[in-house]
Amino acid sequence: MKEQLDNILKEAQDSYYHIKNLKDLENFRIKFLGRNGLLASLSSKFKDFPLEVRKEIGQYFNFVKEEINNLYLSKKEFLITQKKIFFDLSHPGEKIEKGRIHLISKEILKIKKIFSNLGFNIEEGRELVSEKENFDLLNIPPNHPSRDLWDTFWINKKEYLLRTHTSAHQVEYLLKYKPPVKFIVIGKVYRHEATDQRHEMQFHQIEGVSVGLQSNLSELKSVFQIFFENYFNKKIEIVFRNSYFPFTEPSLEVDISCVICKGKGCSLCKKSGYLEIAGAGMIHPYVLQQAKININKYYGYAFGIGLERIIMLKFNIPDVRLFHSMDLRFINQF
Ligand code: DAH
Repeated sequence: MKEQLDNILKEAQDSYYHIKNLKDLENFRIKFLGRNGLLASLSSKFKDFPLEVRKEIGQYFNFVKEEINNLYLSKKEFLITQKKIFFDLSHPGEKIEKGRIHLISKEILKIKKIFSNLGFNIEEGRELVSEKENFDLLNIPPNHPSRDLWDTFWINKKEYLLRTHTSAHQVEYLLKYKPPVKFIVIGKVYRHEATDQRHEMQFHQIEGVSVGLQSNLSELKSVFQIFFENYFNKKIEIVFRNSYFPFTEPSLEVDISCVICKGKGCSLCKKSGYLEIAGAGMIHPYVLQQAKININKYYGYAFGIGLERIIMLKFNIPDVRLFHSMDLRFINQF
């Protein structure tokens, strides 16, 4: 039996060198490894041997089968790569589907560049944060009604949560860098709310923070002006309005002159001439103290901009749900 197996292996090794194409290879497979092939026909004779011998022969049989199978696989790989290398010049060619960077990722790169030119460090934070980071350190104590401003996805019985805003990293990076410092945190945030044309459960925010001896609202205004003029590539007017956030005092709502009608009034800005674009303010002393900053020496401003909102304005995108729709007709336009 062993001798027969040796003969089969030898024969397979000899024919291996004569395989020239995939058809020869398939014949090789049928002859040696196929269901009615040489090896299979031998294995049917096993039962004639006593148990002891059967075991030994079985092992050797498996060894030979494996060797022949390896010959088969290596030739197969060789033929396939060869087919790719020596291509037929008259063949029409295969269309290569090229992937592309998603619009949101592209815009994030541009935004990072603008802020980096303005001297801001670029940070991304984490999507999973603690209750303390997202709320307490930002002067939003438990049971305070202002917590209702953010519908939250809680995890592990309120121990952690998906950050509802990138403000969750203000204190963390202030502690890391120490003032004077400027940084932005850009990334995904989550809100447990119904979706519609303007709202999604996940979206992106740009958080900006500047703490220094003279960080003030007039600097903030010029940062906004430079950022938006660069981003939209047109002249933009900035307007501050009164607002309320627990982590800023005073707090502001920031409007820009409409990117379509430049303040004249159109359907996009609902005839007001202006678009709400960001929240901002001077950082509340409580928050600065959580970051161990001397509030008699340093001031800080902060702002939060919704990323999808500004991308939608720039490219005239009517529905925020398109970004994650996986609709290639949308994605491939950018
Ligand atoms: N975190 C706020 C939100 O998600 C946005 C915001 C407002 C951020 C004012 C700020 C700020 O840094 O000063 O609604």
